[in-house]
Amino acid sequence: MTKIIKTISEWKQLKKSNAFKEKKIGFVPTMGALHSGHISLIETCINENDISVVSIFVNPTQFNDLKDLERYPRTFENDLHLLEKFKVDFLFYPGAKEIYPDNFKYRVVEDELSKILCGAFRPGHFEGVLTVVLKLLNIIQPDRAYFGEKDYQQYKLIDGMCKAFFLDIEIIPCPTIHEEDGLAMSSRNVLLTKEERKLAANFPRLLASEKSAEEIKSELEKLGFKVDYIAGLEGRRFGAVHIGKVRLIDNVEL
Ligand code: PAF
Repeated sequence: MTKIIKTISEWKQLKKSNAFKEKKIGFVPTMGALHSGHISLIETCINENDISVVSIFVNPTQFNDLKDLERYPRTFENDLHLLEKFKVDFLFYPGAKEIYPDNFKYRVVEDELSKILCGAFRPGHFEGVLTVVLKLLNIIQPDRAYFGEKDYQQYKLIDGMCKAFFLDIEIIPCPTIHEEDGLAMSSRNVLLTKEERKLAANFPRLLASEKSAEEIKSELEKLGFKVDYIAGLEGRRFGAVHIGKVRLIDNVEL
């Protein structure tokens, strides 16, 4: 059985118990709507630690667009079913008041990487991500925390934050899991219509192609995508596109 913990005090109390003594805690933070990408993080976390904790918290401060927050899929029953199936020990499932007693007055700001790629198109997004992740890491106090490489910029920023603030937590990147047609698994994929979903497969195909960033952008636009950016950085190519109301991101090693 996966035990659901809703408050910080409950978790702190539990952590004092003998069952936690000298045990390694692995942590997978999520916003729910769990899919095979999350499951692969969860399986790695379970394999590498004595105690596994998953959090589900749709973090309002990382949504720069209120409509995007409202549309974000919420599938709690199914998520819990999956966590139980994979024998996750604890689900941390707090409300917004538990996480933001300060009303987001205190924030983590990064000045370089968070301003480019997705950061340039989603003002404040990474402030929200870094702030909530720091809070979650401080609450759970895991030995290791797992993040998907689909959100590579997010992973790098979280890793950098932990180093900058001397957090004694190993940040572990896990490879992106793809659908059969190459589309990176994302909670947002379920929001695509059938036609949009078909079209979406062109994004990872072109991103991984030999073509230049400019050529990829122009081909995607011809196909009907709205392209935020296609850009190379540190041996990877990053992209963010919109199909209808849904924003997709991905990256590939070059
Ligand atoms: O990647 C996500 O799902 C979120 O950005 C995270 C890391 C759980 C923070 O809300």
